[in-house]
Amino acid sequence: MKIEKYHKVTREDYERWYEENQALREQVGREPHRLRYHLMPETGWVNDPNGLVEVDGTYHIYHQYDPFGADGAIKLWNHCTTRDFLHYEDLGPVLFPDHDFDAHGVYSGSAFSEDGVIHYFYTGNVKYFDRPDYDYITAGRGSNTIHMTSRDGQHFTEKELLMTTADYPDDISCHVRDPKILKHEGRYYMVLGARDLESRGLVLVYRSEDLKHWTYCSRISTREPFGYMWECPDLFFLDGELCLISCPQGVPREGIEYENVHQNTFMCIDGDFENGRFLVKETPVFQAVDRGFDFYAPQTFLDGRGRRILIGWMGIPEASYENPTAKDGWQHALTLPRQLHVKDGVLYQEPLEELKELRRERWRFADGEQLNVAGELLRRSLGPVFEAEFQFSGCTSMELQLRAGTRLSLENGVLSLSIQEGGFGRDTRHGAVKEFRRLRIFSDVSSLEIFVNDGEMAFSTRVYADCGQEEHEGGYLAFSGNGSMEGTVYGLADLQVKRRR
Ligand code: FRU
Repeated sequence: MKIEKYHKVTREDYERWYEENQALREQVGREPHRLRYHLMPETGWVNDPNGLVEVDGTYHIYHQYDPFGADGAIKLWNHCTTRDFLHYEDLGPVLFPDHDFDAHGVYSGSAFSEDGVIHYFYTGNVKYFDRPDYDYITAGRGSNTIHMTSRDGQHFTEKELLMTTADYPDDISCHVRDPKILKHEGRYYMVLGARDLESRGLVLVYRSEDLKHWTYCSRISTREPFGYMWECPDLFFLDGELCLISCPQGVPREGIEYENVHQNTFMCIDGDFENGRFLVKETPVFQAVDRGFDFYAPQTFLDGRGRRILIGWMGIPEASYENPTAKDGWQHALTLPRQLHVKDGVLYQEPLEELKELRRERWRFADGEQLNVAGELLRRSLGPVFEAEFQFSGCTSMELQLRAGTRLSLENGVLSLSIQEGGFGRDTRHGAVKEFRRLRIFSDVSSLEIFVNDGEMAFSTRVYADCGQEEHEGGYLAFSGNGSMEGTVYGLADLQVKRRR
């Protein structure tokens, strides 16, 4: 069966297509850049994590999914669960663009669990092709806010339309999406990413007493324009601080800030919920959640242990660089789950504690020289799949090779991640550090996630050199630098992902 772009897609369409595409699944399964400990599409495309929620010890992770093609033209929600972040079940797609109000995409959204019921909110995207005047910004696009509930995360009540494009404030364009819920002092708040008619990005804040009836309350924006559209807003309390993560689009690069085509931005907010006033605590530059090439649309949730956990899309829309896997039928992945903290207005992120269970063999290094001697040995025994922890003292200049043609270097207080081989258009990303103390690096077959100084800075990227198939000169984990360094490198076990069938 041929799936046509922007036709409604039902569960039956998917089931039929699935039966007919065993060979595609096998081909994608053999593709040499498949990751070993990240969630990725069985076939096709993933983007934003959606509906993150924990209920009775089960973590539900949904995400934007196009099983049919690696170009992400058709957006469904896929559903994965885990109880320990080591063993996962991939239960397959659960939400399809099968109604008039979500016909061109079951877009991003979130989950909110209370009294044994999980409430879901997402954006139903509609493109009105029959309108002669559409530009999809001020006309021709429907951004519908849709609600439904579930008790088990797998079976849902009927989709219920809460708001349509006509319901949003008059000065707002038809770009409104990605609802996320926060409960505060007995009331529910919904944030929605938006673009106004002057193409300024902002967040709309709605209020409700019952999760069903929503009234417009307020908005969050910066004093000066900061991009034309803020996608995927997430308003939450973290260590007593009201925080907003969102993805502003169209922010121009400023030196080593805002280097990606679209941003992922952390802001602290002065919130007066009673009077509906939310002020961004302005800083000279807003902290990027992640400064790597491939990070976007993160979402957070609170788990039963009180941890604020973030998962991001390890990809980005409209980048100038590519993933060579697309020609083999798949691209993109989700990041590792990270636990968040905020201190003095700075966001800190560390991969979840549970991931230490993946650690297998380990090598300790007392200095860079020892690491260099063992670099080649490590390559042969670990391949590109490892975790490394390094401590530095008095280090103001260094270069750490992470694989052929990929280096992290420090010079004049600036960390640079550069990819010269297998970057498919990726070049260099930067971040300023005051004191360089610590690195934690997760390397998977074709990805790197780098956490600096207990997670005050992160870089996530895909990289397609040295993925374990080809022989390269020089080995990885070669180090040169001043001061002293020591550390440990661990081999890592694979995630166990059980697919629905
Ligand atoms: C962010 C985003 C969201 C939208 C979704 C569609 O990557 O553009 O704003 O809901 O992706 O897949």
